[in-house]
Amino acid sequence: MTDVRARRTFLRYLAASPLFASGALAPARGISAAADKRSREAYELGEIISSVNEAINVFDFDAVAREKLPPAHYGHLATGTDDDATLRANREGFRQFQLRVRRLIDVRKIDTSVELCGTRFNSPIGLAPTGGNKFCHPLGEVAVARAAEETSSLQILSIGSTTSVEDVNRERGAPVWFQLYPGEDWSITTALLKRAEQAGCQVVVLTVDLQGGSNRETRKRFTKTDNRDCNLCHDRSDRYQNRRRKPMFDGLDLSKYGRLSPRGITWEFVRRLEDATSMKLLVKGIVTWEDAELCLEHGVAGLIVSNHGGRAEASGRGTIECLPEIVQAVQGRIPVIIDSGFRRGTDVFKALALGADAVAIGRPYLWGLASFGQEGVRAVLDMLRAELMMVMRQAGATSIDKISSSHILRSG
Ligand SMILES: Cc1cc2nc3c(=O)[nH]c(=O)nc-3n(C[C@H](O)[C@H](O)[C@H](O)COP(=O)(O)O)c2cc1C
Repeated sequence: MTDVRARRTFLRYLAASPLFASGALAPARGISAAADKRSREAYELGEIISSVNEAINVFDFDAVAREKLPPAHYGHLATGTDDDATLRANREGFRQFQLRVRRLIDVRKIDTSVELCGTRFNSPIGLAPTGGNKFCHPLGEVAVARAAEETSSLQILSIGSTTSVEDVNRERGAPVWFQLYPGEDWSITTALLKRAEQAGCQVVVLTVDLQGGSNRETRKRFTKTDNRDCNLCHDRSDRYQNRRRKPMFDGLDLSKYGRLSPRGITWEFVRRLEDATSMKLLVKGIVTWEDAELCLEHGVAGLIVSNHGGRAEASGRGTIECLPEIVQAVQGRIPVIIDSGFRRGTDVFKALALGADAVAIGRPYLWGLASFGQEGVRAVLDMLRAELMMVMRQAGATSIDKISSSHILRSG
């Protein structure tokens, strides 16, 4: 019996034990903290699905991703910051809100479509920007774009993508939204904007939550357990090698680009960016009403409530908890999108009931991508939308605009 199988047999035996249920025998390795408990158990017990049809919820794809990806790559996907407290807070935050559902409403027809920045999507659940999708699957962003096209979903493409914006737009059959880390050099920033514009993008998303850096301990721990030679792919002797591998940086003088999120940028920079582009500008990474008001003051076209999936600062505050103060500040004047920790239709419903216009997911579609490529991404999107439709029927809200604050209560 291989080590892995022997370990799983032992764990299956332990699973039946009340001690295991109490958590007393939970694996002591720190690397386990990042993954959701259920998918961690599925992984440990070897209960890995082998086709999309077997999935019961999106966490089933996490277990497959963990099985399939090399440890360093899975660690990169799973990590939060510090001890992952904000990652967990993103999930735990949803428990602070309860649903108020209504009865005896005709719910035979459910419309989940939404309009965002001039485009109609079939679902309020979009794909957040995640860098370098080929670390999950050889087709990377192409597979993601095809799934987004099949489901008519919003796709935000990371500047760190492993497929060019031109190719992704072709596969998506429509322009994606382009996410920008502006770098330190204005001429490079404007060259990136121009390229996205020429590719047909109509929306640019400026990510502002990594200006302070972030300490990704879970990633470091997983990397330590990886016995492959990472230098074979990531040549550490070449400072700019990682960026050279990313098509959006083709032809740019990378030595000038510097930090992705320069420490010195301020709201003045946001204004400068707006003046430099014909694209609508959204700011991603807003978590307080003060910054939401500054977004309005600076005329941005929308904002994304995000803590980078618990990968930015260790605030310990879930984005769903941040949402009410932001919605109150915005008062419907610009679209509010939210991400970080969304894993179920009820999570999405809660955000919409609190006043968000749409939700984005990061890790769940990467789990789907790592598991089953395009089919996996599509399965995750379909599953979350189906779950949302069920809650909408249960609540008696037949379209997204009928989901309101009357459907939600803060516990206590
Ligand atoms: C592997 C990975 C890579 C990411 N890369 C980027 C990126 O390049 N740009 C960005 O703005 N956000 C990036 N994010 C953050 C996501 O856009 C999003 O905010 C987050 O994943 C949402 O949380 P969730 O993963 O819990 O759904 C990344 C997240 C992950 C997990």
